[in-house]
Amino acid sequence: MLRPISAKSNDSMSSSDNKTTNRLASLGVTQTEQVPPLFAELRSRFDRETPAVHDESSWKQFRDAWLGRKSGVLTQITDNWLKPATPELKRAVGAAMNELRAHVESKIEERRAAIESGAEDAAHERVDVSLPGVIRPIGSHHLIRQVFEDVEDIFFSIGFSVVEGPEIETPYYNFEALNIPEFHPVRDDMDTFYLDLPKGAAVPLLLRTHTSPMQIRTMEKQKPPVRVIVPGKVYRRDNPDATHSFAFHQVEGLAVDTDITFCDFTGTIEYFVKQFFGPSVKTRFRPSYFPFTEPSVEFDVSCIFCGGSGAAAGGGTCGKCKGAGWIELFGAGMVDPAVYGFVKYDAKKVNGFAFGMGIDRLAMLKYGIDDLQVFFQNDARFLRQFP
Ligand code: DAH
Repeated sequence: MLRPISAKSNDSMSSSDNKTTNRLASLGVTQTEQVPPLFAELRSRFDRETPAVHDESSWKQFRDAWLGRKSGVLTQITDNWLKPATPELKRAVGAAMNELRAHVESKIEERRAAIESGAEDAAHERVDVSLPGVIRPIGSHHLIRQVFEDVEDIFFSIGFSVVEGPEIETPYYNFEALNIPEFHPVRDDMDTFYLDLPKGAAVPLLLRTHTSPMQIRTMEKQKPPVRVIVPGKVYRRDNPDATHSFAFHQVEGLAVDTDITFCDFTGTIEYFVKQFFGPSVKTRFRPSYFPFTEPSVEFDVSCIFCGGSGAAAGGGTCGKCKGAGWIELFGAGMVDPAVYGFVKYDAKKVNGFAFGMGIDRLAMLKYGIDDLQVFFQNDARFLRQFP
């Protein structure tokens, strides 16, 4: 940064700097030959200071320091050197001063033009390629997103496509068309978030409690064969704890055709589970109940943590499967013929299977995470472990 030379800040100057505030006599200048070196010194000081002037404000300070009418260097020369000088010296000082003034004025004008055109900025902002770079951290997909993609890839590879649906649903799609009539007891589990709608709204709206409504929406839109998976976010009135959250993630699956058997169903699930957890896991299914599947099953996988033995590595029972050797994975079943009635499929001609898996749960099992809440806290120390 330039330090402008001005009469007011003389105290910081070297002896050669403040000569212009003294008269020639007190500088010991009595002969005309002594004049040119004095001006040469000033000129070289000016030339040294010029390159430091890069912007408008330093330019103004610089101009005032040299050409300012009250106390600029040239005014000081006039007042202190020229005016009191003997006629002989006056001529020499006058000539040298005119030369210096011309030099100063032209250089100062040159600087102004350069600053105004931006050429100065460009010259000063030249890139220093030797400087170390700035490391900008690049984000990565959230673990939940990564697991979604893993699941999608596996089902892609066996001919499923991905569809997505609305998170705000009508009770018809969330319940009735899935064979869950208004007073069916399973609604208790799914008592959910209803939207505050203006009076007179045609239908109530709610946040979907599962991705299953997309079974209905998909079948309404297309004829069999259907092979889709539906990744998405779902909502329930659950209090947050290590395994519950009011928002979580599911992938729904639906396959409907004229010749789908229970074997296709279990084979598909087994293929998925082995692709997802590794070839050594075993699967089993147990009878269960869902209103929209018949028969319904619950799929289990051999415990990923103890290898299905039920025993912990350090002795005792495995804490994850509580010694059972099996872990409950997700619900599924053959599509209940009643559901086909809602989408105008001929229940006598088609059959198929459906499943609905919790993605958060799959991620927790695969990566040994024991608290669901870490998915929603966005603590970078957690997220960074899954680049
Ligand atoms: N929708 C069920 C739930 O959220 C999960 C489910 C079970 C989906 C069985 C299915 C199925 O498609 O066949 O609890």
